Amino acid sequence: MAIASVYTLLFFTSITPITHLTKITTTTSETNINNPTKLVFRLTYKDSVSSPYYNPNDSTADQANHVLLRSIARFDYLQKMLKQPSSDDDIHVSHLVPSPEDGVFLVNFSIGEPPVQQLTVMDTGSSLTWVKCLPCTSSFSLQSSQIFDPSKSSTYANLTCSDCNNCDIYGQCTYKKEYLGSTSSEGIYAREQLTFGTSDEGTIKVPDVIFGCSHSIPNFPNGYERSNGVLGLSSGSFSLLPRFSNKFSYCVGNLRDPDYNFNQLVLGDKADIEGDSTPINIINGFYYINLEDSGTDHTWLAKNGYEALSNEVQKVVNRVLKRRKDNPWMLCFDGIMSRDLTGFPVVTFHFSQGADLVLDIDSMFIQTSDEEFCMAVLPGNYYGDDYESFSAIGMMAQQNYNVGYDLKSMQLFFQRIDCSIL
Ligand SMILES: *[C@@H]1O[C@H](CO)[C@@H](O)[C@H](O)[C@H]1NC(C)=O
Ligand SMILES: *[C@@H]1O[C@H](CO)[C@@H](O)[C@H](O)[C@H]1NC(C)=O
Ligand SMILES: *[C@@H]1O[C@H](CO)[C@@H](O)[C@H](O)[C@H]1NC(C)=O
Repeated sequence: MAIASVYTLLFFTSITPITHLTKITTTTSETNINNPTKLVFRLTYKDSVSSPYYNPNDSTADQANHVLLRSIARFDYLQKMLKQPSSDDDIHVSHLVPSPEDGVFLVNFSIGEPPVQQLTVMDTGSSLTWVKCLPCTSSFSLQSSQIFDPSKSSTYANLTCSDCNNCDIYGQCTYKKEYLGSTSSEGIYAREQLTFGTSDEGTIKVPDVIFGCSHSIPNFPNGYERSNGVLGLSSGSFSLLPRFSNKFSYCVGNLRDPDYNFNQLVLGDKADIEGDSTPINIINGFYYINLEDSGTDHTWLAKNGYEALSNEVQKVVNRVLKRRKDNPWMLCFDGIMSRDLTGFPVVTFHFSQGADLVLDIDSMFIQTSDEEFCMAVLPGNYYGDDYESFSAIGMMAQQNYNVGYDLKSMQLFFQRIDCSIL
């Protein structure tokens, strides 16, 4: 079973150089970011025990439903982005970005001096890193998040009008992000020192990183207050990637094991850029590659690819298992994956220049209740045939892979690996 070259949205902003933003405005001593130690973050999967979103009372069906709703929301967002090709973070009001609620992974880092710990949502689909700042006009709960107070930090600096195109009457560089569901996050661009953990249990302080200080944020339902903001890993005007050699990598293990503790993100020169590679493309100002998006759990396949795959799967499975029709647009069966799918062949996605992504059972299917499982690959024409050529490789398909992004060579690398040995 094989699907030839599927095109996928990855990033959507341009890679405008940010030379006008590289002035150092604070007196912090320069830290060598190209230090030989690795900048490593533990990635916390939303549904794992160490996530503040974890609910031990969720049944298998509840969990599968969260995952599906998250994937549909993300897919909806990707579709809307495709329809708005002019998006760039340099524009005063950037276009729709996904609700941070839709992200799949959480990342911890610290901001300011003294450093304040922030739990953020990792997003490869947006370039601005932002955190909630005091004073704040939202009434979110303060209990589980430490809100950053710029007035208490010795390393904080506002951007000035010469740094941006969208300066307000107070001389501040403002931004506004509109979220799906007509809410928004508003604030100002600022610079701060970020503190990251390293592979040798130390920390690295990186001064003067531009970020969004959000003084007005929406009250999302479903516990938005459990995270402090977004770590944007896309390439754009206010992206932090140029400060980190334009490289990062992440490794993702078994997402269905709530105790799995080895998912990780590496930023900078020491990112794990190894394995087979495939080019990253820019089309209509959007980054496209032949692979993945970190914001969806499920994989979405273009109509033709989906039909070919789904027919093959049915040929193999239909002989033994009964297809369920309650959700006709999904491929679901009566059964238990660990019992009924032994011997199921692996599915390989081929990408240009010979890179392969091999999906085993746990990357292809999800147990949706005690007696039903579904294929975790969904049809891209779910929203109608306008979108029939759209594909996005989700995080489930990337399980047991290290994925390296090298924006200097415009290549994406993937390597099948046990994340615990990295
Ligand atoms: C983030 O860091 C804080 C402080 O070290 C820690 O208590 C918390 O468990 C971390 N959260 C996650 C999800 O890693
Ligand atoms: C889980 O269920 C227990 C018992 O019904 C309840 O006390 C607890 O608050 C629930 N936990 C969550 C996170 O909903
Ligand atoms: C940043 O701007 C705000 C609002 O104008 C101001 O209150 C604050 O003092 C400024 N901070 C610094 C460090 O200049």
